[in-house]
Amino acid sequence: MYDDTATPTPDENTGPDGVTRRSALRTAGAVGAGLGLGAGGALGAAGTAHAASSRDEAPRRRGKTMANVPFERRSTVRVGMIGLGNRGDGMIDLFLALPNVKVVAVCDPVRAKAEKAAAKVVKAGQPAPAIYAKNEDDYKNLCKRGDIDFVYVATPWDFHYEMCKTAMLNGKHVGVECPLAMRMEELWDLVDTSERTRRHCMQLENCCYGRNEMRVLRMAHAGLFGDLLHGAGAYNHDLRGLMFDPDYYEGPWRRLWHTRLRGDLYPNHGFGPVGNYMDVNRGDRAVSVVSVGSPALGLAEYRKKHMPPGDPSWKESYIESDRTISLVQTAKGRVIRLEHDVSTPHPYSRINSLGGTLGLFEDYPPRIYLEPTNTNDQWDDFKKYAEWDHWLWKEHSNPPGGHGGMDYLMLFRLMQCMQLGLVPDFDVYDAATWTAPVPLSHLSIRAKGAPQQIPDFTRGEWKKARPGVDSEKPKA
Ligand SMILES: NC(=O)c1ccc[n+]([C@@H]2O[C@H](COP(=O)([O-])OP(=O)(O)OC[C@H]3O[C@@H](n4cnc5c(N)ncnc54)[C@H](O)[C@@H]3O)[C@@H](O)[C@H]2O)c1
Repeated sequence: MYDDTATPTPDENTGPDGVTRRSALRTAGAVGAGLGLGAGGALGAAGTAHAASSRDEAPRRRGKTMANVPFERRSTVRVGMIGLGNRGDGMIDLFLALPNVKVVAVCDPVRAKAEKAAAKVVKAGQPAPAIYAKNEDDYKNLCKRGDIDFVYVATPWDFHYEMCKTAMLNGKHVGVECPLAMRMEELWDLVDTSERTRRHCMQLENCCYGRNEMRVLRMAHAGLFGDLLHGAGAYNHDLRGLMFDPDYYEGPWRRLWHTRLRGDLYPNHGFGPVGNYMDVNRGDRAVSVVSVGSPALGLAEYRKKHMPPGDPSWKESYIESDRTISLVQTAKGRVIRLEHDVSTPHPYSRINSLGGTLGLFEDYPPRIYLEPTNTNDQWDDFKKYAEWDHWLWKEHSNPPGGHGGMDYLMLFRLMQCMQLGLVPDFDVYDAATWTAPVPLSHLSIRAKGAPQQIPDFTRGEWKKARPGVDSEKPKA
C-alpha cells in the first residue's frame, strides 16, 4: 500500500502480481550515493526536514529561488530522451520537427523502443543518437553526458522523481511528464534540488497550451471575467481498455497505482490551466485541498467482463476512488474543483471552467456567458472570442502532433525559451503545486475528507506577480 508518511516496507514495494516498484526513500539514497551524498549527508538531512514539516508551513529556505531565473542562451538545444513508450514515441517526432533542436541520446530498457527512436532521429537527418538500453539504471549514464542541455522524461510515475533529480545533479534542465512525483517529500526534494543546482525542473503540462485554455487565460488576465472566483479542471478519461490491454503500456504499472493510492492520480491536466488563470504562484497560491472519493468498482467490473480467468489482474484489489473530487482553496479565497476518473465509462473531459464576477466559461463543449454582452440566460459562442487567442496560436494555427497541437506548442515555446535565454513559462514550484494533490488527496480521503495544507513551495515568492504561460511574444 502506498503511504506518504512512512518508509514503505519491502512488501509495499511489490505489486500484487509481483511487479516491483522503487521506494522513494531507497532511490533518494541511491541517487545521493551515486554522487557521494549518503542518506546521512546533505540530501538525506534536507529530505527528512521537509518530510516532517511539509504539511504545515514552508520550511527554511535552502537555496535561492528559481522563480524568474532565465535559461542560459544557446543556439541549439541538445536533448536526451528517457522513456520511449507511447508518449515518448509521439514526442520525439515533435522534438525532431522543431528548429535548432537535436536529439543526441535516447534511453529505454526495451531496446527495440530505443532503436526505433534512434532510427527516427537518423531519418530526420540528424546524427545517430547514443542508445542507453542496458537496464533500468542506464538513464544515469545518459544524464552524465556532457553534450545534453535538456532531459525529457516519459517513464512510469515511480521513476519520475529519481530521473528528474539525477538529471539536475548532472547539470541538466529537465522536463517530465505528469505527475512530477508521487510523494510530498519527493516534491520538496525536487524543489530543493532545483534551487541548489540552479537547474529548472519542469512539469510538461501540455494542457496549459491548449487553444481554449490559452484564450481563456488571456481573457482572464485582461479582466473580461471580472474578479475571479472559481474554476474547475479534470482528468476524466476512460482508460479502462488501455489499462487492461497487455500491449499498450509497458507492463501494468498504470493500473497498479489503482491498488496503491487513493484519490487523484493525475491532477495536473486540470490544475495547471486553472492555476494559471488565477495566477497561482504568481500573485495567488493554493493553500489547502479537501478530497472525497466514490467507491472503486469500475476496474473490477471491466475485468469481470473482459479479462480471462488466470489473467494476472485477477490478483489485484482496487481502492477508491473511481471518481475523486477535490476542492482547492487559494490564498485569495478562490475555489478550484478538481476531478479524476479513468475507470468508468464517459466521454473525455478536462472540464476546464472559470467563473468570475462578470461571468463564466465552461469547456466540453466550449461555451461562455459574460456580462455585459450576455444578459439573456443563454450560453454564447466561444468562437466569437478568437481575437483573444494567444500569440502562439495566432502564429501556429495548425500545429503538428497529437492533442490538438498543444504538445507541439508547449515544446516549441520551451525550446524557444532555452534558445533565447528567457525565463521558462513554468518552473519547479508550478510542478510541485500542480502535483501536490496526488499525495494530499490520498491523505484527505484516508482521513475521511479532512482538509490538507498545500505547502508554499515558493517560500513566499508567490506574492510577487510575474509572467507565466501568458507570455509576450519575444522580440528576437
Ligand atoms: N501529457 C500527456 O498528454 C501524456 C499522455 C500520455 C502519457 N503521459 C505520461 O507519459 C509517461 C509515460 O506514459 P506512457 O503512456 O508512454 O507509458 P508507456 O508504458 O507506454 O511508456 C513508458 C516507457 O518508459 C520505459 N521505461 C520504464 N522504466 C524505464 C527506465 N528505468 N529508464 C528508461 N525508460 C524506462 C518503458 O520501457 C516504456 O517504454 C507517464 O508519465 C504518463 O502519465 C502524458
